[in-house]
Amino acid sequence: MLVLGITDGITCGAAVIADGRILAAVNEERLSRLKMAYGFPRQSIAEVLRLAKASPSDVDAVAAATISNHFFDGVKAFDGWLDDDRGFIRNSVFAVAGRLSSLIDTFPGLEPLYYTARSPIFAARRRAIRRILGEEFGITAPVEFVNHHLAHATSAYFTSGFDDATVVTMDGGGDGASSHVYEVRDGSFRRIGYTSAFNSLGNYYAYITHVCGFKAQKHEGKITGLAAHGEPKHLDLLDSFITFRDGALLNVGRVAFSAAVERLRRSLPTSWRMEDLAASIQRHSEQLASRYVAHHLSPERPRKLALAGGLFANVRINQEVSRIPGVERLFVHPGMTDGGLAVGAALATCMKNRKRNRMEAPAGILQDVYLGPEYSPVEIEEALRRHQLLFSRPTSIEAEVARLLAEGHVVARFDGRMEYGPRALGNRSILYQPADRSVNDWLNKYLERTEFMPFAPSTLMEHAAASYETIEPALDAARFMTITYDCTSWMKRTCPGVVHLDGTARPQLVRREDNASYHRIIEEFRRRTGVPSVINTSFNMHEEPIVCSPEDAIRAFLQGHLDYLAIGDCLVSSPSGVGHPLSPMRHLE
Ligand SMILES: [Fe+2]
Repeated sequence: MLVLGITDGITCGAAVIADGRILAAVNEERLSRLKMAYGFPRQSIAEVLRLAKASPSDVDAVAAATISNHFFDGVKAFDGWLDDDRGFIRNSVFAVAGRLSSLIDTFPGLEPLYYTARSPIFAARRRAIRRILGEEFGITAPVEFVNHHLAHATSAYFTSGFDDATVVTMDGGGDGASSHVYEVRDGSFRRIGYTSAFNSLGNYYAYITHVCGFKAQKHEGKITGLAAHGEPKHLDLLDSFITFRDGALLNVGRVAFSAAVERLRRSLPTSWRMEDLAASIQRHSEQLASRYVAHHLSPERPRKLALAGGLFANVRINQEVSRIPGVERLFVHPGMTDGGLAVGAALATCMKNRKRNRMEAPAGILQDVYLGPEYSPVEIEEALRRHQLLFSRPTSIEAEVARLLAEGHVVARFDGRMEYGPRALGNRSILYQPADRSVNDWLNKYLERTEFMPFAPSTLMEHAAASYETIEPALDAARFMTITYDCTSWMKRTCPGVVHLDGTARPQLVRREDNASYHRIIEEFRRRTGVPSVINTSFNMHEEPIVCSPEDAIRAFLQGHLDYLAIGDCLVSSPSGVGHPLSPMRHLE
């Protein structure tokens, strides 16, 4: 049985699952080159069907994530939640809802009424999606609409490899909720917790992101990085807006959307610093999320935790959740944001059909995330020739990349299938040696990025225990760079370029069976330097999506003035030469 999953919200995209295995998953931003694109994902649908070698008549079912949403017939780059102009009607709806939210305690029926009043708009979207799939793609299979949080939950559980698990989703909001909690026993889901969108912790993180001058629901990672530079001086203030009481998250400020932003601004002392506010929302979110998750982990519940939803894109929150007493294992779905909902919706439909004995169980542990397009050697060579770039074919591209990295060069790597999810995990990555602590200044300038988080390392799984403390419970989360670890003193000494002020790093632990070629580069680098880690940052320029095609890669390579491009088995050196001081690494004694 073949299921096509689609999501048309922020970071829209599509996925194909056949007989319980994820064959392809792609987000529209990579194909359209529009960052976090939202709208109907036509290119992604065509691409995942091509990658799965499936025709429209092979599709047995379509699973579309989110029941209640607006339809946008086209794709557009997402420009921040509270800044993005999504049309007069939608902007007005948010403004009115923000004003009315203070009345929600007095009139408890207001929130359901708000959704009921908008239901004709949601129904029109569902009709439009069915029509486009039929008329434009020739897909006649039934289309099922899957609850937003159920789709997050199935994405987490069915890729975790856990048998029994407690599954927690947390985000800004979707289908009227900001969190679901499920007890899952051998694939059977029972919902044990719920938080409404009004009581959303994720939204408060977004409001603070906006107050600090960044784009809400887009730049939250910058706040997480800034947090280590400040003091959490505003915890009491934030607790008077969003708190945890009697087992529930509560919006005690009784505000939402732009009304919340205005009230937060008015409540801050005149001398507030961005770093302190970032530290405050980060600490507050870690505490509230941990208390919320711990509350649902009663002794009779499964102690393996599977997480998804935008709040769990926050790698520090995930580390705090992993420290909750009694947590045996923790897994975070690699596509934890709404970009992962196509996979989740398809898995939810597989689950439903499995109950009817119509198909095999969805796959267990996720082997890797290389689920996007790949390009042939001929396509790569043609792209290089179009740009009149000279290239060589070293006997071993891996050994050559390792040599260049040890000499202190920056190497952009493009190889194999593109990653699914927000992180580049070696196939569309920029690599550098991890001992140079000045790298966070000069390389970010090259890439035209403003980041407050240091670059992240890729570390050989075999050497993870020497590099990080207490790795075991979240080992599979760390394969996908979804959690921070405390670094060992050896790691801090040998790899200062990737260690944050608070002594943590957010590694990708690389197994040979996940990515043999990338593993070989790091292994060869270790043989030369004694260090089993390299810097891995996503291969893209400022505010652009991660590169997808050879054409994208060459453009970003030239624009960023990077030293070398390793593309397939070809090596290209920068036509403009090396513009930064080389920091070669000597072998550790
Ligand atoms: Fe979500």
